[in-house]
Amino acid sequence: MGHSSRVTRQVAALAGALALSSALSLAVLLGAEGSIFGASEFGLHGLRQHYRRPAEIPYPKDDPYSRAKYELGRTLFFDPILSGAKLRSCSTCHNPGLSWADGQPRAIGENQQPLASGLRTPTLLNVAWTPKLGWDGHFRDLEGVAISPITAPDNMNLPESTLIERLAAIPGYVNAFNAAFGKGDIDRHKIEQALATFERSIVSDEAPFDRWIRGDEAAIDASAKRGFALFNGKGNCAACHSGWAFTDGSFHDIGVAHDNDIGRGRLFPTSVKLQYAFKTPTLRDVARRRPYMHDGSLATLGDVIDLYNRGGIERPSRDDEIHQLNLPQGDKADLIAFLQALSAKAKPFVLPDLPR
Ligand code: HEC
Ligand code: HEC
Repeated sequence: MGHSSRVTRQVAALAGALALSSALSLAVLLGAEGSIFGASEFGLHGLRQHYRRPAEIPYPKDDPYSRAKYELGRTLFFDPILSGAKLRSCSTCHNPGLSWADGQPRAIGENQQPLASGLRTPTLLNVAWTPKLGWDGHFRDLEGVAISPITAPDNMNLPESTLIERLAAIPGYVNAFNAAFGKGDIDRHKIEQALATFERSIVSDEAPFDRWIRGDEAAIDASAKRGFALFNGKGNCAACHSGWAFTDGSFHDIGVAHDNDIGRGRLFPTSVKLQYAFKTPTLRDVARRRPYMHDGSLATLGDVIDLYNRGGIERPSRDDEIHQLNLPQGDKADLIAFLQALSAKAKPFVLPDLPR
């Protein structure tokens, strides 16, 4: 069986939800608020394409999906022996019960202190599609983010050599590595590939919004429909929160950062627009991920809308798409109703048995 058919099977449930809509359901969609996108600018076909959930998870050629690699990665992800004191796993911060984040304004490391970066834990939902990882985009790919949280002294605090010794001493892990990669020593590269393969499977489920754009008029209420029109119109949100995952995968200063962290500006010191620029987060399931922003500085979705309504801090780096909106109270409520319609029904996540 070829790689792509295995991938297809793996996401069969996802794919089942994707068959997008007939012209009829689009007529219903547009009928709700008149023409949301000018036909010339976007068109019916463009609108449908724009919000269509992808049919397959993309796996890179040099780290293709295999069931054994996925299972090993899932086990590693939840195993606290990946931290120095054996107390914290990846899932301590990227917790499936908290939308793959931790609900904290700042991530807390093994020493019970905030990480040196002072950053909030981002969700891992839909990371398979994220072109550049980290709030400032300095990680090249998922494989490249796998070891650094483990070895960073302020995070999981476990040297690479100790990590490998610990895993090699547990027969269940030796077998799992052999099953995933063929017989041989456990090494960093294999750990990175297994973790990344598991993380690519973390995909947001179908939300009421998806059922609505497929034509189920009752899936979301009138307020959320007005919110969708605002999101794409007067609110200008779709300028950056674009596509099915509601992110352009790019970096902007929305006028929120106000401490020493200049985000992507560190990598591009001479670019005016990249000072204070952080990655546009996905808005899938966003209502479950308080508090908000890279620094956890906004407690609620209401606070987020207030920020956009004010237009944030005005400065040379602020994105040209951000300006004072002056939305009345009712519009703010509609935008929040729309954001809530992007949350899928919560689903239990089965934890792996940890080999010992
Ligand atoms: C102490 C909490 C904490 C732990 C434990 C942790 N992370 Fe994270 N994770 C973070 C924070 C904070 C960031 C943002 C880092 C940045 O932007 O530089 C992050 C970013 C990421 C990203 C990038 C996500 C994106 O959208 O850009 C990935 C992938 C990731 N972590 C995977 C892991 C894996 C795999 C592990 C376990 C080996 C792990 N993390 C352990 C807090 C944590
Ligand atoms: C110029 C691009 C841009 C526009 C326009 C924009 N956003 Fe954002 N949005 C971002 C970026 C970048 C962040 C993360 C900023 C940070 O962490 O410093 C963000 C963060 C958010 C968050 C917090 C998500 C999280 O997980 O922390 C929400 C909710 C949100 N935006 C909703 C909206 C809404 C609603 C609108 C329209 C009123 C909008 N955005 C307009 C780029 C944009």
